[in-house]
Amino acid sequence: MDFETARREINKLKEMIKKYDEEYYINSMPSISDAEYDNLRKQLLALEKKFPELDTVDSPSHIVSGHANTAFKKVKHNIPMLSLDNAFNLDEIESFISRIAKHLNEDKDTIQFCGEHKIDGLSASIIYVDGKLNIASTRGDGVIGEDITENIKTITNIPKKIQTDIKVLEIRGEVYMPIQVFNTLNESEIHKFSNPRNAASGALRQLDPAITASRRLAFFAYYADADCLKTQDETLKFLQDLGFETTEYCVCTGIKEIDAFYNKVLCNRKALQYDIDGTVFKLNDLSKQQIIGCASRYPRHSIAFKFPEDIYRTKIVNVEYNVGRSGTITPVAVLNPVTILGVLITKATLHNFDEMQRLGICTNDTVLIKRSGDVIPQIIGVDVQLREKDCIKYSIPTTCPSCNANLVTDSARVYCPNHSNCRAQIIQYIAYFVSKQCFNVVGLGKAQIELFIDNNLVKKPVDIFKLSNFATDIRTMLGSRITAKILDSIENSKNVALYRLILSLAIPQVGITSAKLLAKRFQNIENFCHCTKEQLIEINGIGESMASDIVEFLQNTKNIKNINELLQYIHLTDTIS
Ligand code: IVH
Repeated sequence: MDFETARREINKLKEMIKKYDEEYYINSMPSISDAEYDNLRKQLLALEKKFPELDTVDSPSHIVSGHANTAFKKVKHNIPMLSLDNAFNLDEIESFISRIAKHLNEDKDTIQFCGEHKIDGLSASIIYVDGKLNIASTRGDGVIGEDITENIKTITNIPKKIQTDIKVLEIRGEVYMPIQVFNTLNESEIHKFSNPRNAASGALRQLDPAITASRRLAFFAYYADADCLKTQDETLKFLQDLGFETTEYCVCTGIKEIDAFYNKVLCNRKALQYDIDGTVFKLNDLSKQQIIGCASRYPRHSIAFKFPEDIYRTKIVNVEYNVGRSGTITPVAVLNPVTILGVLITKATLHNFDEMQRLGICTNDTVLIKRSGDVIPQIIGVDVQLREKDCIKYSIPTTCPSCNANLVTDSARVYCPNHSNCRAQIIQYIAYFVSKQCFNVVGLGKAQIELFIDNNLVKKPVDIFKLSNFATDIRTMLGSRITAKILDSIENSKNVALYRLILSLAIPQVGITSAKLLAKRFQNIENFCHCTKEQLIEINGIGESMASDIVEFLQNTKNIKNINELLQYIHLTDTIS
């Protein structure tokens, strides 16, 4: 691979990883599996290793994924909350042990590790001052998390007071939703979560602790910052004595014992009342953990030994074509419903047409679905032996399922070019425009947007800012309380940072990180609208293909007209805050 291609590939991977981080940590709605996500990171790391000049400090390969949610007060972690490196087989465990043995200059067969369950939840830090629960926070981006003290206090198996002489004691562990609670919650019509982890994440992020309390979360502790502790197993005993629950654990010496613990947990996992996606092995001696140290994203002394993914089978009922906000058509498989670890799965994204064609999906095909850890199941293949003789292969549609316009295919996507008149596209775009990351209009969901479009109140995003002219009509449709909330929020959203305006334009490939880079570089909207491809490529983090998309977007006079119209309603406050 030449330098330029690597640069483009790295930029593409960074954008994708950031997008998936956002889906996972902010929206609690991952659209790809852990394995695919890990694979993207691996590809990025490999390319950055091969082309060190392209390895920038802001690369997601150096950053612990996750972001602090702005609705909560921020808390700075005294010790960063890192992630864990993954191993998927014994060879990878072997190299992990060998690296440690070499570093410590010890025999690899005598080093002790503490094996635990890898709970599929969300990590939390809880600080006790004088034995009283004082402040609790999420991991956030690893350095700054969200203050979730009130929500944590609703978790019944977390002691509010502990017996200790330690003045300030930090405990860390995993918040999770017991499977039973998840199943009951998902039986109701309102709460549909793809898995217990997402449900737990949603519950923990409630601004009203009473709602968190009703979701009956639980906690497993696995870390205590106390100088008196010498080993990890001692830490777990110490935590139990304080009144915390820990998972089953076992001190393992050498790879055979590690493998035995892993297999035992793997066999018994279905009997557990909580989801786990593997085991964790930590160097047992805490002073040796200090010697081994940490990489930027994860400690070198601990590793997650992940379980293989479960594979299920079901039949394809249909393939539907979703229209995205910029017109991109995405194939979605409608499935014969299948329950996977308590979750009823009826649809699975096929991501894009390359993927659909790679799988060669035909009518009535039996497909293999993979569920790894906590994610939305993915179609990984077709059982061709069960394929019906007279089946018909699903093909790329030629017309838009929403507006019937002829679709356009370019190297990257199939899309509907009827941007200003395609109903599905307009709904998606307006929903994106008002979403939290763009103009952040509260209370305006897809249902309300559809209502406004059908009643001719809104045709394009800027019309949102004219809605106050129709207050009486809206009140009749939605009632005065909701109308007031929406109109208030629209007023507030008019004061907006430049990067949010750029993001809201829905320029293909431009995500939140790129929008911030653009705002920082060009400082005001006029400069941005007049930017050249050369200027764009000079920005570290903007690749050639994104630069072309930006320039093409800005060369379209319709888009400039829209921006100018928007500027009549909004007030740019800042560049990136
Ligand atoms: S140790 C050093 N122990 O897995 C940072 N983490 O994929 C890791 N997790 O962020 C903390 N069970 O949220 C540790 N027994 C366990 C765990 C565990 C689940 C989570 C934790 C971490 C993530 C990494």
